[in-house]
Amino acid sequence: MTTGRALLVDHCGQLLTLRGPRRPRVGKEMGQLGLLRNAALLVQEGHITCVGPQSQITGLPEAQGADRIDAGGRVVMPGFVDSHTHALFAGSRVDEYEARIRGATYAGLAKSGGGIQASARRMRGAKEAVLLDHLRRVSARFLEFGTTTVEVKSGYGLEADQELKMLRVIKQAMAQGTLDLVPTLLFHDVPGPWRKKRAAFLAMMIEQVIPLVAREGLAEFCDAFCDRGYFSLSEARQLLTAAKTAGLKLRLHAEQLAHTGSARMAAGLGALSVDHLDHVTRGDVGHLRKAGTIATLLPGSVLYLGSSPYPPARMLMEAGVPVALATNFNPGSCPTQNMQLILSLGCTHMRMTPAETLTAATINGAYAVARGHLVGSLEAGKQADILVMDVADYREIPYYFGMNHCVTVIKKGRIAYDRTRLSRAASFAKDAMTQ
Ligand code: NIG
Repeated sequence: MTTGRALLVDHCGQLLTLRGPRRPRVGKEMGQLGLLRNAALLVQEGHITCVGPQSQITGLPEAQGADRIDAGGRVVMPGFVDSHTHALFAGSRVDEYEARIRGATYAGLAKSGGGIQASARRMRGAKEAVLLDHLRRVSARFLEFGTTTVEVKSGYGLEADQELKMLRVIKQAMAQGTLDLVPTLLFHDVPGPWRKKRAAFLAMMIEQVIPLVAREGLAEFCDAFCDRGYFSLSEARQLLTAAKTAGLKLRLHAEQLAHTGSARMAAGLGALSVDHLDHVTRGDVGHLRKAGTIATLLPGSVLYLGSSPYPPARMLMEAGVPVALATNFNPGSCPTQNMQLILSLGCTHMRMTPAETLTAATINGAYAVARGHLVGSLEAGKQADILVMDVADYREIPYYFGMNHCVTVIKKGRIAYDRTRLSRAASFAKDAMTQ
């Protein structure tokens, strides 16, 4: 398929456009998917040009002679935007997984040199080419599951040279890959040798590393793990303030292990997103709403670690805070890349409706990585990041949980993944159409 030729996606049983205001969706808007039945859309030069009823779109002159994907009555929707991941790491921590099954805790493992510090030791030993290959393979799997834009953090380097190594690998992957990556400089923990001189570590990061990262365009966002046992409120504030001065956008790991006041601190500094929020309180919510900060919820790590409450999605949504959902894919607290599973957790454990989870995982995720003007909805002018899901009703995406419903993934107008032949044998959409 060439970029010059138009692409027609037709016979969409339910086309979820997610059209709406040019800002994150709040309150009742989160339940509005802009659903069109028996619809089609047209793509030219990697962008969506027309969306509408089947008969209208197929009758357009540009549709004649276009390449065609027949969705066969299935659900068609925007690609998922995974707005919080630690997708670049050097090796799994499956030994810790088994240790936790046998009774160890995430905090206990971290205290004895495991956790983030273990990933940092492996990162130090990893060559850039190996890391790049990892990111390529991980990116292919994201696409298979329908994720077309992914935020990727550094954070397993800890030391300046290793953090920079991670960001350079992410930059190379961005230049080579199909997937859109959004790079974030993450202050994850203080490396061992600096434990007794935290102030000097912070000064070095603030005076040298943050300005260098901004100058070289190695990251778009800055993030810190502000929590009990990691960066304090005052340390995180110093890091974020320096990053803002250097021109980086802000996000923060906030209120995951304990309530620290980090979410309202970050909102006060203009962070685009505060992430996790397992321990966010009613008192924090007004600060987030006033600042327009997006609450990015990561129920995958709650499921996987089993030690925090699920974040209060309904409280946040009812207060008018825009909510996004992301995987938090990482080797320690959430080794899954499957956004569809995250939707199921949002529905079952956080009482979000299927429509609200879809909004959270597409358009609101896009705004959480400053890409709301480009992706997250299927509207004329937007990038053609489109999924064909093998269901006839969008609610079946979270309902049939833990599965991959994605059969075709279109990224910037090109087919990036296609499983249609395989799926014909076992199609839920087909079941519904023949009943
Ligand atoms: O988002 N909270 C901090 N960072 C990750 C965990 C990272 C790890 O354990 O490797 C998280 O859960």
